[in-house]
Amino acid sequence: MYRTHTNGQLNIQHVGQQVTLSGWVQTVRDKGFMIWIDLRDRYGVTQLLLDEKRTDAALLEQARTLGREFVIQVSGTVLERESKNMKIPTGEIEVLVEELTIINQSKLPPFTIENQTDGGEELRMQYRYLDIRRKPVQDKLVFRSRVAQLTRNYLAAQDFVEVETPVLIKSTPEGARDFLVPSRMNPGTFYALPQSPQTFKQLMMVGGLDRYFQIVKCFRDEDLRADRQPEFTQIDCEMAFVKQEDILQTFEGLLLHLLQEIKDIAPQAIPRMSYEEAMQRFGSDKPDIRFGMEIGDLTKAVKGRDFKIFEDAELVGGIAVPEAADYTRKEIDQLTDWVKRPQIGASGMIWVRVPKDGALKSSVDKFYSTEDLQQWVEITGANPGDLILVLAGEENRTRKQLGELRLELGNRLNLRDPQVFAPLWVLDFPLLEWDDETQRYHAMHHPFTSPKPEDFHLLETDPGKARANAYDLVLNGNEIGGGSIRIFDKSLQQRMFKLLGFSEEEAAAQFGFLMNAFEYGAPPHGGIAFGFDRLVAILDGSETIRDYIAFPKNNAGRDVMINTPSPIAQDQLDELFIKSTLSEEEK
Ligand code: AMO
Repeated sequence: MYRTHTNGQLNIQHVGQQVTLSGWVQTVRDKGFMIWIDLRDRYGVTQLLLDEKRTDAALLEQARTLGREFVIQVSGTVLERESKNMKIPTGEIEVLVEELTIINQSKLPPFTIENQTDGGEELRMQYRYLDIRRKPVQDKLVFRSRVAQLTRNYLAAQDFVEVETPVLIKSTPEGARDFLVPSRMNPGTFYALPQSPQTFKQLMMVGGLDRYFQIVKCFRDEDLRADRQPEFTQIDCEMAFVKQEDILQTFEGLLLHLLQEIKDIAPQAIPRMSYEEAMQRFGSDKPDIRFGMEIGDLTKAVKGRDFKIFEDAELVGGIAVPEAADYTRKEIDQLTDWVKRPQIGASGMIWVRVPKDGALKSSVDKFYSTEDLQQWVEITGANPGDLILVLAGEENRTRKQLGELRLELGNRLNLRDPQVFAPLWVLDFPLLEWDDETQRYHAMHHPFTSPKPEDFHLLETDPGKARANAYDLVLNGNEIGGGSIRIFDKSLQQRMFKLLGFSEEEAAAQFGFLMNAFEYGAPPHGGIAFGFDRLVAILDGSETIRDYIAFPKNNAGRDVMINTPSPIAQDQLDELFIKSTLSEEEK
């Protein structure tokens, strides 16, 4: 038997017992007459003791050969510690070692394997298996597993069937690039890895499975950020014979269940907002509603005063930053530089100080009277002591810029407490999005999303205005899920493909299987997919999904531990009929 107890188990009640423990040597403290060893496993750390008085010389000698991360087994007696550490569960006891076996040796690890480590990100990723020995990393993976279990149990109890869909498939249009896999048996052809199981889950509804879910890997070749990985996990779900309201209720239930089980938050109906309202009030389709600072529309109020920038602007919007009236010029200039960065793209920023007492003061006093500025105060809802910041320009861009500025200030003013959870449904997304580059419409969600029946007529006259039965679930300003009611009628699906610029042949080649299926009694259906990594990270008070993935990719899409992507041998390329267009140097 390797162990009678784990290293997190022993406490004062075990004093006097004979025990056997196994684990990794975290530290050895050799005081000459006494040696203390911290022995670690997944469950905790137990202090081991050897001393000159009670331990025989050979055993002491053997203990002195131990290095960090050696795997050992010890047997001995549990003693009450003289100086207790009440911060850990095993802190009141120690084990007097009577037998010691070195099960395996270890090279000196490249960083210290303790809660606080000296290892940099790159090094820890390269030795991720050692990083995983650290408690904070293990805790995150255990937390992820718990959220997965709770999700499975909740959905299974609601009659959802867990089905695995294939990984070697054909392109599914979710808006990113595909990862491709060449087929050896079918020269010159490729599989695509799923960006999501979208078409399969719809086919399962045609198959009559009625309620499907899967915790599933998805693959998207897109630029990476803290909340994006090239392979990530979805809780993917679909239901038949449902309307939008049924889906919202069911999955609101899932999130509320998780919040209750994990955070002990009493279930409360999740507020809802249309896409249009979210854009108007927050300049974002995923508003963080943990704090106010909503956008006030100043466009009408500012006109007619000869201030050219505002005269020319389609939208002039302002936000009232709480308690910021006494920001220094330097602080305001720094914020102005922030909005002018290419990522935000504003051309400048106007400010109004709303002092606790005294007159309003603005950067456009030449053009606007105190009465004018007083109107801005009312529109933005500014209180005495606030600072109003104003951006102007083309409507959509300006709204988004104001939304970004709002979030930035929310961060700076600590208004985004990660332990406060504010979910929100965003509904009625536009069906289509105009793309200037390709000069055509793209599906805002995906091409299988149903337009709102009351907007059908717009498809012919003004497709850009048509809204979809599509919804996102937002948590603390992050999109944690998105879905839609689907088209289940072949002719409407064909019309959609046409609107999206697919020729009939292209649509048939890419999605013929789905349109065929729709000819055999497809039920009305809809669904949603949660970004599982994101959901887990946010529930744990973080926004960095990488920390919650056992073996994540870095920002360049590389796994530095196994060193991939990596070149492959010429014979393998030949076998797959792949010719490189890279020059010898580029290789
Ligand atoms: P969508 O594309 O909105 O919908 O994806 C669903 C959710 O997946 C998460 N997500 C990601 N998480 C990490 N890394 C990524 N690269 C990444 N991309 C997306 C987001 C997002 O809300 N088939 C549809 C769902 C449906 O219509 O039922 C779909 O995939 O949290």
